[in-house]
Amino acid sequence: SGARAAPREFRLRAASGAARLVPAPYPDTAVWSYGSVPGPEIRVCQGERLRVAVENALAEETTVHWHGMRVPNAMDGVPHLTQRPIAPGETFVYEFDAVDAGTFWYHPHQNGPVQVGRGLYGPLIVEEVEPVAVDRDVTWVLDDWRLLGDASISGGFGNMMDTGMAGRIGNTVTVNGRVPEVFAVRAGERIRLRLINAANARIFGLEFDGHAPRVIALDGQPVEPHAPSDGRVVLGPAMRADLVIDMTGAPGDRFRVVDSFYQGLEYRLLDLAYAAEPLREHVPDTPVALPANPLAEPDFAAAERHAVSFGGGMMSGMMGSGSGGMMGGGMMGGGMMGGMGRTMQGMQHGGIWTINGVAATGHVMDPMLTLQHGRSCVLELVNDTAWHHPIHLHGHSFRVLSRNGNSTRHREWQDTVLMTPRERVEIAFVADNPGDWMFHCHILEHQAAGMMGVIRVTEASRT
Ligand code: C2O
Ligand code: CU
Repeated sequence: SGARAAPREFRLRAASGAARLVPAPYPDTAVWSYGSVPGPEIRVCQGERLRVAVENALAEETTVHWHGMRVPNAMDGVPHLTQRPIAPGETFVYEFDAVDAGTFWYHPHQNGPVQVGRGLYGPLIVEEVEPVAVDRDVTWVLDDWRLLGDASISGGFGNMMDTGMAGRIGNTVTVNGRVPEVFAVRAGERIRLRLINAANARIFGLEFDGHAPRVIALDGQPVEPHAPSDGRVVLGPAMRADLVIDMTGAPGDRFRVVDSFYQGLEYRLLDLAYAAEPLREHVPDTPVALPANPLAEPDFAAAERHAVSFGGGMMSGMMGSGSGGMMGGGMMGGGMMGGMGRTMQGMQHGGIWTINGVAATGHVMDPMLTLQHGRSCVLELVNDTAWHHPIHLHGHSFRVLSRNGNSTRHREWQDTVLMTPRERVEIAFVADNPGDWMFHCHILEHQAAGMMGVIRVTEASRT
């Protein structure tokens, strides 16, 4: 309908480089990046078309996946499944529309544990045509790194301990590529805070001491504004949350932002530091709800239902649910691999992960499910393991209907759903984007060790 505006053009160049992750006296860290860590922010308005030329200056193949964006299959960046990987020296041009407004991110889908783990990722923000009124729109890209004492990235990617347990959890947490100290705020200010978890494996659970954040979007999709349950914003790898936080403290105040996800390993992420001068006397009381994105509503009566089970991994009775083998973050040095010395009791599967009993060995595989274009579908996901798994579907967002039989309060739209050990989660979506789509755990070590499948959506029928 009518003439299109020209696409917005962006360039990304994947290459090795250096980044100042930790403050002096530590030196820079050798990373792989799109020029900086995180990569440059791509920011467009809903409805705009993006054209992103990705140049591969790495010594190995790569791709870029636009996590959470509902793009045409050929633009999805999955090596061999949706495109030939970008060879060293080559450039591939991605082009797609920003259908949904929200907080998204981009990262390679080739050799994920290493390429993402060494720093290849960046934020992709799609602004609403009419955004909520805030004083500042801020993005925190969260990551953690496993650094050695000289601030270099530790090797050992894909070792069996990480693979069979919680994934490669690091010892140094960064916000926007830096070990953070303070985040400066002003009394009376209203901030929209976009959180993106770009870590390979770490789950974050952020608490904002003295403040009452409201969640207004999850995985880019608007949700009825609400306080996070238990006052904690939990984000598995790849997940996002948009918060509205009112700065209700007084000039000169300081409040901690704490990550308390792993029991006994809480640490202070940073301080909110109030300036001496307030911005205004009271925070605004304008509405914060976001307009809905154009997602098709599943028809539950007509939906087809499928069960999907997730299996494998090491059983670790003595380590509890998924908190073994790692250290708290936000610090340098010290014993890097907290759980390494402990014996692995009851190791059963040698660290191989499965979906419906199948361990993937690459991105190309027979579809685990074939869905007719336009069909509504409910998936009952069963986590048959002792570990957390953030499960991601490409090309679609889905509603999270229930957890362990209890309806969710907000029926939130997500593209990645975090399952706790042994949890059952029902999700629903309309299979309205044709193509072969990855469905996988976003703990990148789990994905690489088999927890990945393909869901096929047939071409639109031409009747
Ligand atoms: Cu964030 Cu299959 O990806
Ligand atoms: Cu997993």
